[in-house]
Amino acid sequence: MKCSCSAIAAAALLVGSVSAQTFRRLGACPTLGCVFPPDQADFLAGQFFDIRLEVHQPKNGSEFIGLPLDENFTFTIAKTGGAAKLVTDYFKIQDPKLEKWNFTWFEDLFARDAKTPTLVNVASKAYRRVALYEPGEYTATLTYNNGSKTEATWNVRDLAEERKAKNIILFIGDGMSTASITAARLIGHKSINGKYQTTMAMDKFPVLGHQMTHSLDSFITDSANSASALNTGHKSTVNCLNVYADSSKDPFDDPKVETIAEMFHRLTGGHIGIVSTAYIADATPAALVSHTRARSQYEAIVDTYLNGVQNYTWTDVPIDVIFGGGAEQFYPPALGGKTYQGKDYYDEFAKQDYQIIQNRTSMLSLDVKEKALGIFTVSNMAKWLDRNVYTQNMNQSLSPTGDKKPALDQPGLKDMTLKAIDILQARSGDKGYFLLSEAASIDKMLHVLDYDRALGELLELDDTVKATIAHLNATNCLKDTLILVTADHGHGFDVMGSVDQHYLAAQNVDRKKRDAIGVYEQSGLSQYINTGNLTYTDSSFPSNWDPRYTLFQGLMADPDRRENWSVHKSGPREPAAEIEEDSDDFYVNPKDGAEGIMLNGTLPVENDQGVHSLSDVPVYAMGPCQELFGSTYSSIDIFYNMAECFGLAKGSPQEDGTA
Ligand SMILES: *[C@@H]1O[C@H](CO)[C@@H](O)[C@H](O)[C@H]1NC(C)=O
Ligand SMILES: *[C@@H]1O[C@H](CO)[C@@H](O)[C@H](O)[C@H]1NC(C)=O
Ligand SMILES: *[C@@H]1O[C@H](CO)[C@@H](O)[C@H](O)[C@H]1NC(C)=O
Ligand SMILES: *[C@@H]1O[C@H](CO)[C@@H](O)[C@H](O)[C@H]1NC(C)=O
Ligand SMILES: *[C@@H]1O[C@H](CO)[C@@H](O)[C@H](O)[C@H]1NC(C)=O
Ligand SMILES: *[C@@H]1O[C@H](CO)[C@@H](O)[C@H](O)[C@H]1NC(C)=O
Ligand SMILES: *[C@@H]1O[C@H](CO)[C@@H](O)[C@H](O)[C@H]1NC(C)=O
Ligand SMILES: *[C@@H]1O[C@H](CO)[C@@H](O)[C@H](O)[C@H]1NC(C)=O
Ligand SMILES: *[C@@H]1O[C@H](CO)[C@@H](O)[C@H](O)[C@H]1NC(C)=O
Ligand SMILES: *[C@@H]1O[C@H](CO)[C@@H](O)[C@H](O)[C@H]1NC(C)=O
Ligand SMILES: *[C@@H]1O[C@H](CO)[C@@H](O)[C@H](O)[C@H]1NC(C)=O
Ligand SMILES: [Zn+2]
Repeated sequence: MKCSCSAIAAAALLVGSVSAQTFRRLGACPTLGCVFPPDQADFLAGQFFDIRLEVHQPKNGSEFIGLPLDENFTFTIAKTGGAAKLVTDYFKIQDPKLEKWNFTWFEDLFARDAKTPTLVNVASKAYRRVALYEPGEYTATLTYNNGSKTEATWNVRDLAEERKAKNIILFIGDGMSTASITAARLIGHKSINGKYQTTMAMDKFPVLGHQMTHSLDSFITDSANSASALNTGHKSTVNCLNVYADSSKDPFDDPKVETIAEMFHRLTGGHIGIVSTAYIADATPAALVSHTRARSQYEAIVDTYLNGVQNYTWTDVPIDVIFGGGAEQFYPPALGGKTYQGKDYYDEFAKQDYQIIQNRTSMLSLDVKEKALGIFTVSNMAKWLDRNVYTQNMNQSLSPTGDKKPALDQPGLKDMTLKAIDILQARSGDKGYFLLSEAASIDKMLHVLDYDRALGELLELDDTVKATIAHLNATNCLKDTLILVTADHGHGFDVMGSVDQHYLAAQNVDRKKRDAIGVYEQSGLSQYINTGNLTYTDSSFPSNWDPRYTLFQGLMADPDRRENWSVHKSGPREPAAEIEEDSDDFYVNPKDGAEGIMLNGTLPVENDQGVHSLSDVPVYAMGPCQELFGSTYSSIDIFYNMAECFGLAKGSPQEDGTA
């Protein structure tokens, strides 16, 4: 660990050096000399990473200094107490060729409105696939512009090397916060006189911590950026997957950092599985093995699952099992798909010995000894509420084959996760496995203010966790498996009371409708779960999604919308709509929220959805190394704790390229 005094001094130095806030010339680079990984970066010993150096020459704007572009910068590395060496000597590598490009950025909103971007010329070098093996502090120094220096302090963490867990299962409730867990418990579990008769599976975990989710260069994160922190131990920038964002246009040339899945496979031969209810190229699943500045490179991400990172010397990680949605990145363009180089990715996976399945029935009868790709729908998978309660909403043209029929036979998170465990268990033998299981639509449904669907997804995650624990226990694998349940970021969601639907519907004036809201003692009790039923059994889900008294729930920041606080029976909600197409000007959707109250939004009007929030998110831990996960820590610590538990910290000295 580093002395906090130096950290404070470093932070103080940054203040005032640049005023960029809404927009940045380049994140984590307040000076004109940029070093990535940047100052304060932590590393796992032996973790591969790229170094990107950039020297910026603003051609105009507030940072203009009138110097020529410096194409002759130098970069040294020193272990604390040791002599500084040129990077080429330190890693015994060749100096790469100089790259040059330019980019523009807006210094603030006034410059954006006036359409006056600042132009910046760049001279850059990238050193690929290096590693630091010895724990301790390093100083990396970029010298540019005749003596200006950018210094980065890097810290290789000193971690225990003994492997403690054979397997790790990482459950991500995307966008799940303590508030949404609390609301899910209220509608899924019965309380008598203030005492819960049953609780969530998460509630029973022995260890609970909190992670801080903020990003490298903004305090609100997205799922790509936060998943990068969980997977690499390096904070990054919104939209980045396991890279630091550089300023070049190419979304694949940004400096990469090796992920836990890649290291686990490279060093131990461990096996990898990915399960998500999102389209499978979405950020959270992609973050196991993808490396790109742009999470929207879906087609290339799907190719990465199969072939590893293209055009680059990097570890190829075979993935045993992939279950999720997103068929449009698999079936060929002739059927309306959008795939990497126009190929049919069902065929591409089949050629590499994957069993290809497209519905739940086929999934349940998979041969667990063989690799499997299961893609069950176009786009995101159907929500628990639509699969189980409002099943008429399943009738949409989303068949995973691309034949425009409905995708009726979709598995839920629980079935997918249990099958993935069986496949990983059968194929990994003594090597162990790392499985990601993501409940993606907690986030997706909170974005569209569809609180009931979001809570259904959260309860399904909890039910999956419960079934996973029982399954591991029954197969005698529980004691070898670290189970983590956490989120990548929060949403500003909470419950403030209840709403009397009958009273609401009987009023004609919005101000009177607000009287239907009951707060404090008028909130009453949850009506979603076996009201007045003395023979209560734990079903883990509401018995009634449409009671007279619903939850008065909502987000901190919204588009214009109409709230009636009752379940949306005809499918996921669309709260805001454009009156004029492509105007980026969203108003309340006239078709949404019948009988409800019209409420004006607080977000900029180009937003048709709610947004992520700052809140720390919970981390539940059970199994080997669970004790590492108590207290409050940074999201990157989850990577270091998992890596330590897998015994990955020793790196691989025989590949040592360092001094
Ligand atoms: C580049 O820098 C090196 C060392 O700082 C110096 O010896 C050399 O003359 C410089 N070359 C140019 C073209 O400026
Ligand atoms: C920016 O770079 C591009 C190609 O690298 C070049 O064509 C263009 O002229 C440059 N723009 C400016 C304003 O220098
Ligand atoms: C900087 O130069 C570019 C290219 O000449 C121009 O488009 C832009 O408006 C200028 N920006 C400012 C802030 O002067
Ligand atoms: C560096 O110094 C030389 C000599 O004083 C000068 O000609 C050159 O423009 C300077 N370069 C930069 C990038 O400051
Ligand atoms: C890899 O290189 C090939 C051939 O140059 C190119 O077509 C493809 O787009 C590249 N892929 C990525 C992800 O950069
Ligand atoms: C599931 O997929 C298999 C193989 O494509 C197909 O034969 C079967 O009819 C499908 N079942 C359902 C219920 O869609
Ligand atoms: C499904 O939707 C189609 C087209 O909207 C309609 O013709 C059909 O009757 C629907 N089927 C069911 C079972 O609701
Ligand atoms: C595991 O199974 C045993 C035997 O059925 C039971 O006693 C124990 O409580 C179970 N443990 C967990 C964590 O479910
Ligand atoms: C009461 O609970 C039992 C057992 O869970 C269930 O079968 C029954 O339908 C419930 N009754 C009501 C009114 O919710
Ligand atoms: C409030 O929302 C309504 C409906 O979307 C809209 O017509 C009105 O312009 C909004 N008012 C403000 C101040 O944004
Ligand atoms: C609330 O709005 C949704 C979507 O428009 C609708 O399905 C539901 O029936 C409405 N609830 C009431 C009580 O009108
Ligand atoms: Zn989100």
